[in-house]
Amino acid sequence: MTPDFPKDPAQLRSARWFAPDDMRSFGHRSRLKGMGFDDVDYQDRPVVAILNTWSEMNTCHSHFRDRASEVRRGILQAGGFPVEVPVMSLGEMMMKPTTMLYRNLLAMEVEEVLRCHPIDAAVLMGGCDKTVPAMLMGAISADIPSIFFPAGPMLKGRWKNETLGSGSDVWKYWDERVAGNLCDRDWNCIENCIARSAGTCMTMGTASTMACVTEAMGMSLGGAACTPAVFADHSRLATRTGRLAVEMAWRNLKPSDVLSPASIENGVKTSLAIGGSTNAIVHLIAIAGRLGMELTLQRFDEISRSTPVLADIRPGGRFLMEDFYNAGGLPALLSRLTDLIDTDCRTVSGITLGEQIRDAEVIDNEVIRTRENPVSEAGGTCLLTGNLAPNGCVIKSIAADPKLLVHRGPAVVFDNYPEMKQQLHAPELDVTADSVLILRNAGPLGAPGFPEWGMLPIPKKLLQSGIRDMVRISDARMSGTSYGTCVLHIAPESAAGGPLAHVHTGDMIEIDVPNRRIHWDVSDDEIRKRRDAKPVTKPVPERGYGRLYAKHVTQADQGCDFDFLVGRSPGQEPGIH
Ligand code: FES
Ligand code: MG
Repeated sequence: MTPDFPKDPAQLRSARWFAPDDMRSFGHRSRLKGMGFDDVDYQDRPVVAILNTWSEMNTCHSHFRDRASEVRRGILQAGGFPVEVPVMSLGEMMMKPTTMLYRNLLAMEVEEVLRCHPIDAAVLMGGCDKTVPAMLMGAISADIPSIFFPAGPMLKGRWKNETLGSGSDVWKYWDERVAGNLCDRDWNCIENCIARSAGTCMTMGTASTMACVTEAMGMSLGGAACTPAVFADHSRLATRTGRLAVEMAWRNLKPSDVLSPASIENGVKTSLAIGGSTNAIVHLIAIAGRLGMELTLQRFDEISRSTPVLADIRPGGRFLMEDFYNAGGLPALLSRLTDLIDTDCRTVSGITLGEQIRDAEVIDNEVIRTRENPVSEAGGTCLLTGNLAPNGCVIKSIAADPKLLVHRGPAVVFDNYPEMKQQLHAPELDVTADSVLILRNAGPLGAPGFPEWGMLPIPKKLLQSGIRDMVRISDARMSGTSYGTCVLHIAPESAAGGPLAHVHTGDMIEIDVPNRRIHWDVSDDEIRKRRDAKPVTKPVPERGYGRLYAKHVTQADQGCDFDFLVGRSPGQEPGIH
């Protein structure tokens, strides 16, 4: 960023609170004095809020108190007035039924916290899955200068000679344990070794995916997404972020100045090129929606057909985020996609994305593949449509067994998650490797909250006979760290009256990923009969946030935002009375 930006304190948003010679402003100033601040601490300085999602219930953000003080250092260095503001923490591990239920709540909190306070710019400290889209969505709707600071991935896990990846290796070794191949002692050792530090899941889960997407959209510093949470580099990143936030305040560089249809598409392409989480689709549709832009599943699929997967990172590949960082990180990967991405898009740094990645260099061609030797030519994640999913569903094909991408088999239906848990491993369950496991009532309304139940476990008797993948279909999401032939996000979901509600065990189901098709082999007449015999009523809780959620959440293909939050906010500034 060039140093010659205008600095006019009268133009700062916070000046409306602090500058006038009136009784209200007297009140604002006198209470800052009461906190121990002198005139010189805040007068004529941009107020930069550090929106911190630290919580002892959020295992991924345990280093955020330290990072907040490092961000603060940067803000002070650049002449800003730092204020730390805690906002709701969405920790994927502890929060039930799922953090996704609360993504929109955090988005609303971020928007309102920014709007109602004397804040000129914000550093959004997030990382664990839903915190990233939530904070971006809120900042976009408030449209106050904001920069995202990602928590960074945790260090690689290690057990004996094995490298352990968050999530992915939990599922893998749990299957071995269920199959009787792993003793209690080894299982306990894995528990001690898999999460070695603060930070987010270090596979290409939703956290890493969304951090990369955010960087590619220009909303964080170049190189931010891959920097491991506990590296010294991460502390320096925090301080740089703080310094930049002050400049953004002077420039009044708002999300609406940085984000555009082209930058959203850069985000989509990035999510595909890194072999990212299927959850990115839902979040990107919601983020685009806040900007008043429509991103459809069809467009996502079109982009998928021409975007190669270059990052060889688990669960779709072999390596982990620390390896990605050592290989040059996201800037290096993007430097191999300059013909596909729009390098003219702006970034929070005031330079273009092209300028941001100009000096990037790939250090390791195994981790960041060349265009001639990609992990996959295209189609890392695909959209399927058909009579079982009229509004679409998705599959992460690079994380599936290629042999199952074209498949026909009889359905084994579970009406809800508790039923599945109870029946799945029963020896008498009529299931073979060719069966198609179906879970319903697991979508945005049904579960509720759209939990990560989509990687249905393989039945024990199949695990014992050596089966490790089979076709699974649900209206749920799955963790970005999950893998397998899992068809997800069926829309409309069963609890909204979608066709999935009427599938019976034994019905034949077909998937054909190359042709983007999903088919339920039952006549239209029979479907109508079943629908009339068993109409679906949308579940709406009696009270509280759950009621607001159920009444207003949109379906997966529309991003699961609340209907009244979609579109550009009028940006109504509060009166200072
Ligand atoms: Fe927080 Fe995976 S649990 S990023
Ligand atoms: Mg996750």
